[in-house]
Amino acid sequence: VDTAKGGWGHLNVDHIVQTDAKPRGILAGAERTLAVTGKYLLIPIKMGAPRRVVTLLAPGKTIVRNEVDLADAEPDWWAAVDVSPWRGKAITVRVDRLPDDSTALLAIETSNTRRDGRELYHEPLRGQFHFSPRRGWNNDPNGMVYFQGEYHLFFQHNPYGWAWGNMHWGHAVSRDMVRWEELDDVLWPDEFGPMFSGSAVVDWNNTSGLGEAGKPPLVLIYTAAGNPTVQCIASSTDGRHFTKYARNPVLSQVTGGNRDPKVMWHEPSKQWVMVLYVEKPAGRHTVHFFTSPNLREWTFASHVEGDPAGRRFLFECPDFFELAVDGDVARKLWVLRGANGEYALGGFDGVRFSGRADHLAGQRGRGFYAPQTFSDIPASDGRRIQIGWFQTETKGMPFNQSMTIPVELKLAATSEGPRLTYTPVRELESLRGNSTRQAFETFGPGATNPLRSMPAELVELRAEFEPAERGEVIFNIRGIPVVYRVKEQMLHVQDQIAPAPLRGGKQRLTIYCDRTGLEIFASDGFTYMPFAINLDPANLALGVEVKGAPVRDLRIDAYELRPAWPRGK
Ligand code: FRU
Repeated sequence: VDTAKGGWGHLNVDHIVQTDAKPRGILAGAERTLAVTGKYLLIPIKMGAPRRVVTLLAPGKTIVRNEVDLADAEPDWWAAVDVSPWRGKAITVRVDRLPDDSTALLAIETSNTRRDGRELYHEPLRGQFHFSPRRGWNNDPNGMVYFQGEYHLFFQHNPYGWAWGNMHWGHAVSRDMVRWEELDDVLWPDEFGPMFSGSAVVDWNNTSGLGEAGKPPLVLIYTAAGNPTVQCIASSTDGRHFTKYARNPVLSQVTGGNRDPKVMWHEPSKQWVMVLYVEKPAGRHTVHFFTSPNLREWTFASHVEGDPAGRRFLFECPDFFELAVDGDVARKLWVLRGANGEYALGGFDGVRFSGRADHLAGQRGRGFYAPQTFSDIPASDGRRIQIGWFQTETKGMPFNQSMTIPVELKLAATSEGPRLTYTPVRELESLRGNSTRQAFETFGPGATNPLRSMPAELVELRAEFEPAERGEVIFNIRGIPVVYRVKEQMLHVQDQIAPAPLRGGKQRLTIYCDRTGLEIFASDGFTYMPFAINLDPANLALGVEVKGAPVRDLRIDAYELRPAWPRGK
């Protein structure tokens, strides 16, 4: 019995026989041809079903090939594939293997509407202010960019199953980074392979030639993870319709383990810069820098070694951006970080990153990965905002995983040098509903819980206090204790511990709580602890207590939050 849970694996077969009799019960290469009369092709999905290779064919051409958790009988949900380019034509659906009593092929139909059901966005394990796709699996955020008044969030998406696979780029847009509208997937697997992670930029001066008069193109830069694994681009002038570049790939394989291009315009050297993760033999993690005048032709510039000790520093999904220390534009530093959030600081001259490849700790917590920051946020705003993959596991739901809340990154000076700080964006304040504000000159052990009268499912809690020299301050969030140990100046949450130094003798904490997790900020943002946890739906209790010694000047603001999803849909 193979109990592997991964999205892929292999079986070794060593007893192969020939027979004249067709094996009973399984049809090979079953097909159905249907006329495309609607925008979508609806495909029945059963979670945990054996993955079938489903190929869509237009006359003379393979459209796409995916491994689908195909429902042979009653489906759990429907995948909706946008087939509008083939409207009025015939599409053939071919399945590699099908039990001969399967209803899967018969059930497939075209329709002008998706079939997401009335529960959409109200499902019991749907994070209510964390983005997740309507259907299927997501991992990394991709192509985060601000374009024509909208934030775009693309993401690693499997539209055909609950687990990882068939990497597409999903797509959502928002005007505030809080309320997202999911659109149709923009990049499907093609002859170069599945669509792995990457980034997006606005090509303001149309250096790529992919724009139109007065319309700078939005350019996606992504990895096509076939054999070889190469870097490709796609573009759009309206943020809705995307076309893959006809002469892809734009960068050939460096090593098989090269992926996740993050591109930015480097104004001092007037060129595009790409940082690309490149895995070297023996699992060495490196980041390579390439430059380009036009996003289409790339030249190797330099590379940075990750940790020679083989730890995961600079492993996958690099991001690279410049920040001013304490907002002082004369003191800017480049931040180079990898998927686990650890980072290095240094200079960059358009060729080489001069930073030491020492890794500074990023977020703490559990279930956060592959963060990316938005490109092209207007200079008048000037914020550097990240979203990460929030590894919220939602068993039994027609979707799986989500994204963390948008968080502003800054660099702040400390006695040990500049460090990243993490601050939830102010746009989240628009979710606030009922609230309570409380203040205590001193708050001692045994004091009445000031939040006893405020049960809530979705919560933003802000607290400030001046602790004594010992003891604990405990915030109970729906059954999860967030414990500040005063003497050691550490936060303890479940099995994780994070330094949370006092700032001017005070501790300031912000905690967001959704159905699927907590995001905790301490020490004016120096400490960020996201936790993917499915909270007990029956426990809506909030609490504050201290142990050991009283604290001074306790101030609490607690808000019940409203769901960010559209209502009544
Ligand atoms: C990180 C990652 C990326 C890759 C993508 C594939 O989570 O492994 O390196 O591009 O996921 O889905």
